[in-house]
Parts: sequence; structure tokens; C-alpha cells
Amino acid sequence: MHPVRKLWCRIYQTAFRIALPVLPYREPKPLKTFGEAADLLVRKKIARVLIVTDRNITQLGLARELEQDLTERGVAYTIFDEVVPNPTISNVEAARERYLADGCGAIIAFGGGSAMDCAKVTGARIVRPKKPVTKMRGILRVLRPLPLLIAVPTTAGTGSETTLAAVITDDKTHYKYPINDFCLIPHYAVLDYRTTLGLPAHITATTGMDALVHATEAYIGRSTTRETRERAIEAVSLIRSYLLRAYRDGSDAEARAQMLHAAYCAGIAFTKSYVGYVHAVAHSLGGQYGIAHGLANAVLLPYFLDEYGEACEKRLAELARRSGVAAADAEDAEAARTFITWTRDMNEQMGIPTTLPGIRNEDIPAMAAHADAEGNPLYPVPRLMDAHELERMYHVVQDPADADGDAEGTHETVGETVAAAAPAAPGIVARMKRAVRAAGRRARRAARRARTTIRHNR
Ligand SMILES: NC(=O)c1ccc[n+]([C@@H]2O[C@H](COP(=O)([O-])OP(=O)(O)OC[C@H]3O[C@@H](n4cnc5c(N)ncnc54)[C@H](O)[C@@H]3O)[C@@H](O)[C@H]2O)c1
Ligand SMILES: [Zn+2]
Repeated sequence: MHPVRKLWCRIYQTAFRIALPVLPYREPKPLKTFGEAADLLVRKKIARVLIVTDRNITQLGLARELEQDLTERGVAYTIFDEVVPNPTISNVEAARERYLADGCGAIIAFGGGSAMDCAKVTGARIVRPKKPVTKMRGILRVLRPLPLLIAVPTTAGTGSETTLAAVITDDKTHYKYPINDFCLIPHYAVLDYRTTLGLPAHITATTGMDALVHATEAYIGRSTTRETRERAIEAVSLIRSYLLRAYRDGSDAEARAQMLHAAYCAGIAFTKSYVGYVHAVAHSLGGQYGIAHGLANAVLLPYFLDEYGEACEKRLAELARRSGVAAADAEDAEAARTFITWTRDMNEQMGIPTTLPGIRNEDIPAMAAHADAEGNPLYPVPRLMDAHELERMYHVVQDPADADGDAEGTHETVGETVAAAAPAAPGIVARMKRAVRAAGRRARRAARRARTTIRHNR
């Protein structure tokens, strides 16, 4: 990366790190049961609620208990179950139409990250009817309190129930990007491990590894706080103890409950301390080819940790020692190496491959540009990389057969959309100053809005 751009990224990240203590982060209020969620809606005088979920979940009948509790308390509900993995703008718009057509007054997000993110952005579109989803990309672009939003995670991975992020794919361009805003943090969450008991082993594996990537990227980043470090350590310790158990025996209640808690802790860690390039690259692969988020992350993690090398060694070693992955007295180099080997072992033991299928050479520059646009300047990664440097990482995880040009792509290329998506590298000091000032203004506005939200939801 060009040194001036590097400087700009680090100044931008420093501004956010300094602002961290005054930014309006909050956690969702916990609800123990679906009955409590239904009671809450009665108290708030919500006559009808929109349940945002996916077809698989409705077919499995996972939300039946919630539906019963709502019916018993006289709260009507509309089910929107068209959310797809890597949820799209079309999903959001369809959910919004159902919300408005049926006169709903609140949203329950019931599912994995896909359902929760679709629900969040649906809420954003309801309070921002004139702002298209494409204009919400990036940070602090919603800035308005959402309708009452209750999250019920059914995978133990994304932590979306507690984060300020929602990741959406533009179905026209296959561009997948995060929308980050404090108002997207759900107001309430029901963490009930019973909803995760039927999660198939391979989804248990990849979503659990997603949580590991959240904790790891947050910890090795340069914007941590004592709280986010502790949460990341807790998440990694729990994942170390319980992910393989949950993978091998899905009915292991203790392992399921602990994984749900681990995903939540990792969510808290990264919502304040960010993720990194593993996520930026994984998002681009999810948007372009529909690759499952957790799978892409799990495969990419060890390669990026190798790539960061000494830039993340000290922090990674600390995480490894404190989470029990490495011996308490291991030297930094050895502890960091142990952590990377452990992530590879975890993948191997759960049947997660070492490469990803279908990556076409001609798509790589566009995806790398998207990853660059997502990661820079926001993510305080150990070592900054631009699109050109990131391109190499796609080749590293590319299936060798596809590298020869045999890839059967599932989508048309997105080359023509990239120019619009990836901002040009800024090169002047004035631009640096403007960006930092604008971020400060948006943060102050968000703080004001969040105070209003908190009052609104009290
Ligand atoms: N907002 C955030 O903070 C955040 C963080 C990480 C990832 N994400 C996003 O979340 C999405 C991925 O979410 P995910 O990994 O939870 O997967 P997902 O929501 O896409 O679900 C994956 C599959 O698992 C099924 N499933 C979910 N729960 C189940 C259960 N209990 N039993 C059986 N099947 C079940 C779903 O029907 C789906 O087919 C991606 O789009 C990713 O970008 C968001
Ligand atoms: Zn993730």
C-alpha cells in the first residue's frame, strides 16, 4: 500500500479508537424465553410483529414455540421466510413491503446471520424510506432509531444479535458489503440454545469457526479495549472447549449453550474492535459466488495469520496463551505458531477444506477491490494491504484446478461494477482531514440518535 494511504488509514482508525469511549455502543437486553418476548410486545402495545426468517427454519418448525407464545398473548404475526444465505437487497425490500402491507409495529429476527441482517436492514429501510440500501453501505449512514427489533440467533456464529453490522448483497452486482450503524444493534435478544440443537454438523463447524475469526481478528487488530480483549479470550476459550463437542454431537446441550455464548462474546469483541481482511475477502467471495460466510472465513483465517506474520505475532501469542490454546509459558513465536496450527487442525477435524472451489482468475481483481473498499481505511488490521496485495490471498485459497482457468463460475463477472464500488486511493492530506472530520460528525450524530433510541425503548 502507498505510504500516504497507509498514513490516512491509520489516522482514520486512530480517530475512531480515540472516540471509542464516547460512541453509543450498547448490548441488546436479554430475554430468557419467547414468552418474555411476547410479553414485551404486549407491553409495548404492538398488535402485529414481522418475523424475518428463512424457509429452512420455517420448514423445521423452529419458530413454532414463539408463534404459540405470540398467539396466546394475542399478538398477531406475519412470517417473512424468503431470506437467502448472503441475504440480498431484494430480500430486504420484500420484507419491508410485508411489514408495511400488514401494518406491523416490530420485527423479530429469527435465524442465523442472514435472517438477522436482513431484519436489521429491513428496519433501516422502514425508518429511511427514501434512502436505498446501496446508500447505507459503510458507517453511520442510517442514523435513525429502528422499529423495535428482537433477535433470536439459531446458529452460533455471527453474533449479529449484538453487533452494529448487517452484511447485504446487491443481487444485481453480486457486491456484498457491511452496513455499520449503532441503530442496527438489536434492542433485545433471546439466546436459547435449543434453537441450535438441530443445526447440521457442517453448519455447526463453519459458523463456529466464524465466531473464532471474529474473536481473533478483533484481538489482533489495533483498536482493542480491555473489555474486547477479555471477550475475545472468553470466546476463544469456549470455542476451544466446545466447538468440536457440538460438531460431533449436536444434541450436547452444554456445548450448544456455550457456543451460543461464545458467538455472543465474539460479537461484542468485534462490534467495538472490528474484524479484518479475512472478513473483507470472505464477503467478496460470498457476494460473487454465494460461498457460505463461515466456510470462507474458516479457510482464509490461517493463511491471513501466516501472511500477517510478525505484525500480529505478539497479540496472537497473547490470545493463544490466555485462551489455553498455547502453553502459558510459550514464547511469542511459538505461541503464535501454535494458534495458527490449531486453527488448521480445527478445520481439518471438522472436514473444512484448505481451498475454496470456483474462484475464477478473471473475478479476482474485482473482488480484491471490493475487499479493499471494505477494509480500508476502517479495519485496524495488523498490516495494511491494498487491492493489489489482497489479490494474492484469493490465489492462495484458490482450488488448483480453478487456477488453471477451469473454474465453472456460478455468476457473471462483476468487473464493470467495481469502479463504482471501490473508491480511488486518496492521495492528499486535505482528503485525510475531511474524512476524519466527517467521521467525527457522523459519530456525534449517532450518539445523539442512540440516546433517543435508548429513551424510546425504555
Ligand atoms: N451482522 C453481523 O455482525 C454479521 C457477522 C458475521 C456474519 N454475518 C453475516 O451472516 C450471514 C451468515 O449467517 P450464518 O453463518 O448464521 O448462516 P445463515 O443464516 O446463512 O444460515 C445458514 C444455513 O443454516 C440454516 N440454519 C440456521 N439455523 C438453523 C438451525 N438451528 N437448524 C438447522 N438449520 C439452520 C439456515 O436455514 C441456512 O440454510 C452472512 O451473510 C454473513 O455475512 C453478519
Ligand atoms: Zn463473520
